[in-house]
Amino acid sequence: MATDRPERIAVYPGTFDPLTNGHVDIIERGAALFDRIVVAILVNPEKSPLFSVAERVEMARAVFASRPGVEVDTFEGLLVDYARKRRADVIVRGLRAISDFEFEMQMALMNRRLSSTIETVLMMPAESYTYLSSRLVKEVFALGGSIRGLVPELVEARLAEKARITDSLVV
Ligand code: PNS
Repeated sequence: MATDRPERIAVYPGTFDPLTNGHVDIIERGAALFDRIVVAILVNPEKSPLFSVAERVEMARAVFASRPGVEVDTFEGLLVDYARKRRADVIVRGLRAISDFEFEMQMALMNRRLSSTIETVLMMPAESYTYLSSRLVKEVFALGGSIRGLVPELVEARLAEKARITDSLVV
């Protein structure tokens, strides 16, 4: 049924180095709530990530290639400026545990101060992902542990490829 309602767009910002199944879980939940969810990968030249921004974009696009309503993009500068540019009025962030809360609250309130019309929605992933982080995935992988089921298969393959190329993974 056609409707005049404007498209409801949410931005899900982050570093995604690499994308984990916890991120995928949040993206799926966001895609069910909003017409479109834009996975926005921060271009941050100060950090030294394992995967380049181009690699992270390519992996996320491949994972969500057949998922309508999910878009992958990059952004620089203030998140609220990017959200405004994309006509998004919601910022989605995942909340795994109480330990995430302080930082997420700070960010949400700072973003609200910068733009009162953009609302932050904190979403809880499935319990099985509440301990999961990109940093731990990289650490466990670099030390030879199994990350099966914690990241999309394609990401696991790319990690293995990177380990082969560099001979070792520094995290
Ligand atoms: O995955 P991360 O590293 O927790 O994501 C952090 C991110 C990218 C959401 C945050 O660093 C961010 O929004 N950076 C953009 C700069 C900005 O807008 N800062 C002011 C808002 S607190």
